[in-house]
This record gives sequence, structure tokens and C-alpha cells, in this order.
Amino acid sequence: MTTIDPFTQFKAIQKEGWAAFAPLEAITTMPAAKLVSFAGVANDHNVLDVACGTGVVAVTAARRGAKVEGLDLSPALLERARQNAKTAEVDIDFTEGDVEALPYPDARFDVVVSQFGHMFGPRPEVALSEMLRVLKPRGRIAFSTWPPEMFIGRLFTLVAQYLPPPAGAAPPPLWGEPHVIRERLGDRVVNLEFERDVVLNPSLSPRHTRQTFETTAAPNIRIKQEYAEKDPDTYARFNASLENLIAAFSENNHVKQHYLMTRATKKG
Ligand SMILES: C[S@@+](CC[C@H](N)C(=O)[O-])C[C@H]1O[C@@H](n2cnc3c(N)ncnc32)[C@H](O)[C@@H]1O
Repeated sequence: MTTIDPFTQFKAIQKEGWAAFAPLEAITTMPAAKLVSFAGVANDHNVLDVACGTGVVAVTAARRGAKVEGLDLSPALLERARQNAKTAEVDIDFTEGDVEALPYPDARFDVVVSQFGHMFGPRPEVALSEMLRVLKPRGRIAFSTWPPEMFIGRLFTLVAQYLPPPAGAAPPPLWGEPHVIRERLGDRVVNLEFERDVVLNPSLSPRHTRQTFETTAAPNIRIKQEYAEKDPDTYARFNASLENLIAAFSENNHVKQHYLMTRATKKG
């Protein structure tokens, strides 16, 4: 009997789980422009958007004249990304793949970016080594992640209590801690800088937002699949905790989703 290793299994679940993410591009579109500016993308750059989803960062960089490629686990999101590029009249190569095994040669790109994406690779060291491998010496790496103490970071911590990740997988919110990022990048980079910002997620009520996540965001889709029918009490407990969390970050019909941008230059 062949056994599938836990990380392969984890990625298969991620691939399926993120397939319905497209409506949330409405939330990630504005921070995409922030990340492209923060990364210093210029019109003569070769850019890779890792875990590109529907291509919001890739399209933004391409509209600024860069030559862009995008990679993601989810074929459904890549399909949407290709449509988005076509609508914006930009030419982008989108490839299905895994941040832990990037299908590009060494030193291929001037800039490697990832918005709320590479953080889902279960082994940060593998993902980071791959992103730095395909980056040219003196090239720029930049990414956006969710700080652990803010809304989305706390949402991931809550989900992990109900759906434990495989042993050895790093918690995604650690990617929102500057001191962890500094340690992970180590002496492979110089000019490490951080900047925080916030994106406002329209929200008619905490329950509306919870229900939207349940049909669009991989972790919440899985919570519903695992608990709604098999264990309604646990499902109700999770929902109450999540709605309280949403309420704690809500005002005036929006939820505040703080994020952290990181940029650094690969050593020459
Ligand atoms: C929250 S979405 C962000 C998508 C997009 N970057 C954006 O800002 O709209 C997370 C993305 O990470 C992708 N993803 C998760 N694990 C991945 C992996 N191991 N390799 C590549 N992509 C991955 C998912 O398919 C999904 O598109």
C-alpha cells in the first residue's frame, strides 16, 4: 500500500479549498497595489507572483509595464487569473505549481512577490529557499502576511484549534512576526524593511462575514465540511467564537484586516 506524505495531502486539501476564493479578490485588490509599489516593481523588471490566486498582484504589476509570471496551486483560480489578465489587456504567463517546488531556473526574476500566499506553504524554509533561488542576486523579495495578533492572524489560530495542521507545518500567522521573518531570511538578504497597513472588508454584520468566509476562504470552508453535519455543537461553538472575533475588529460596516508588508534585497 502506498502512503501519501502529510504535506502532499495537506497541499491537496489546500488546492481544493482555495478553489472558491475568487470573490475575495475584491478584498485583496487594494493591498495588491500597495505591495507592487512597496516592492519597487519597475517596467523593466521580470516579476514572479507566488500563490497568485486570481492574479491581482500579477495584473497590477503588468499594468505598470513589468513582465510578469504567476504561479498557484489552484487551477480554478488560475483560470480566473487568465481572464483578469485578458480583461486588463496584459500578457502574463500563469502556471500551476507549488511554492515549495518552483518550476523556474535559478536567478530568473528581478522581483519575487507574494500576497497572503507563500505563507500557506507548510515549511517556511522550503518556500523561502525556493523564492530566493529563482530571484537574481540583488533582486527584491516582498510579501504581505497577516500579523498573529490581528484579525486574520487570530482567525487562523482559531481554525487551527479545530483543524490541526500536519505535524511539522509552521502556523501561517508566524509569517506576520517581523522577528520571525528576520530570522527566516537570515543573512541571505540585506535592507530588510517592514510596513503595516490595513484593508477594510465590507461587513453588514459579523454573521454575514462569517458566512462569506464559509463559501470562499479555504479554512472556513473546511470547518463547515468537517463539523456542520457531523458535530453541530462544535460547529456552533466555532461560529460563536468567530463572530465574536469579527465583532472585535468591526466598526461602521467594515472589518479591519491589518497586514504586514516585508521587503528585502537578495545578497549579491
Ligand atoms: C488567500 S489566497 C491569496 C491569493 C492572491 N495572492 C491574492 O492576494 O488575492 C491564498 C492563495 O495561496 C495559494 N496557495 C496555497 N498553498 C500554496 C502552495 N503550496 N503553493 C502555491 N500556492 C499556494 C492558494 O491556492 C490561494 O490562491
